[in-house]
Amino acid sequence: MIDIARLQSLIPSSALRVYEETASTNRDARAWLLEGAAHGDLVLADRQTGGRGRLGRSFFSPEGGLYMSLVLKTDAPAGTVTTLCAVAVRRAIRKAAGIETNIKWVNDLQYRGKKVCGILCENVWSGNESLGMIAGIGVNVFGNAFPPELADIASSLYPDQSTAPFAMEQLAASIWEEILSGLGCLPAHMAEYRRHCITLGKAIYFTENGQTIHAFALDAEDDGALRIRLNDGSVRILAAGEVTVRPFDAQTVL
Ligand code: BTN
Repeated sequence: MIDIARLQSLIPSSALRVYEETASTNRDARAWLLEGAAHGDLVLADRQTGGRGRLGRSFFSPEGGLYMSLVLKTDAPAGTVTTLCAVAVRRAIRKAAGIETNIKWVNDLQYRGKKVCGILCENVWSGNESLGMIAGIGVNVFGNAFPPELADIASSLYPDQSTAPFAMEQLAASIWEEILSGLGCLPAHMAEYRRHCITLGKAIYFTENGQTIHAFALDAEDDGALRIRLNDGSVRILAAGEVTVRPFDAQTVL
């Protein structure tokens, strides 16, 4: 259970809403922003019953994870903030746990080849007026209660443990701090993003209009888009979506 007093002492300047269980902290933070939440305010939950992921997917959110949604008053593109969050969470995990994770374009962190963190940044509008953004982060910290369809692709930082060897509040505060400080110097984090992104420099494939397309991942743009070279030599920018590193190439980085 997140100790709200402990977390508040680590980030005294922000308002917090902490739940044992909620449907989705992104949904809660969005409603709060519409009511007047401030930059840096934070929603957390011990578990989510309707965790939201990218591309309309769900995000499995049992106890053992850190589920947080940060209110950001920013005009930066969602893709840029997503890459910042990836770098921020990577740094915070390294600081709290001494674990080095890899970034999988665009919004996943992997450890030992499996997803341990997902990020969902969503813009919030009131009519035509942009109110800001919700940066939603789910870190699988301990336990291994993944359903069979996820067991091959997702895990946690400590799959064999039933507690975290560090305070969840410390990890949350560290993520909060890294994101807010990084937001002030965008896109300085991109060098670190590129260094740790295992998708770059790899043969990849993705699906488009029901077709599998093979390509080579050249680089990440500052707005988070992926620059790719197709087999016919043409270069394209993928603004969003999901790509897979071809298994042969993946073996070299696992
Ligand atoms: C993804 O991997 O597709 C993104 C997953 C983002 C999950 C986090 S958990 C906290 C926040 N609340 C949500 O409903 N989603 C985000």
